Amino acid sequence: MTTETSAEPTRRDFLYIATGAVAAVGAAAAVWPFIAQMNPDASTIAAGAPIEVDLTPIAEGQDIKVFWRGQPIFVMNRTQKQVDEARAVKLSALPDPQTDEERTKAGHEKWLVVVGICTHLGCIPIAHEGLFDGFFCPCHGSQYDSSGRIRQGPAPLNLPVPPYQFVSDTKIQIG
Ligand code: FES
Repeated sequence: MTTETSAEPTRRDFLYIATGAVAAVGAAAAVWPFIAQMNPDASTIAAGAPIEVDLTPIAEGQDIKVFWRGQPIFVMNRTQKQVDEARAVKLSALPDPQTDEERTKAGHEKWLVVVGICTHLGCIPIAHEGLFDGFFCPCHGSQYDSSGRIRQGPAPLNLPVPPYQFVSDTKIQIG
């Protein structure tokens, strides 16, 4: 003699479950293109779409490199010492005079955002290297300070500051 317990799925239960699963997959498949199209694809980003950068993983004294419009961008969380040194420099000592205040955002002084392309012949400088606690270009020896300003060597101009803004205390949008 066999007994049937309610815990065992019947054939009808199976059909309900299978139908529900197919409906859920179908709904997700229908929604996915709408979600996916809200994110710019790689070619759109390469063409210059703005990018957002989360600053929380960047410890004080560290930097990260991201890419915007195919260019390397350094985002540096400067120490107070680096900020103080950058702000103490006389403009007359700079080949391309710019104050640190002009190159950073008020209220977010510790953050430096610069295009990581040497203004001499386009090499990528190394962060936290060189004589001025900023960037050193290994190709021909250009030295940039902790504000990304050219201080010595053949490069004629400061590292450019790309267009960017703070969208919160811990996130910037570049572009
Ligand atoms: S490319 Fe950087 S110093 Fe020449």
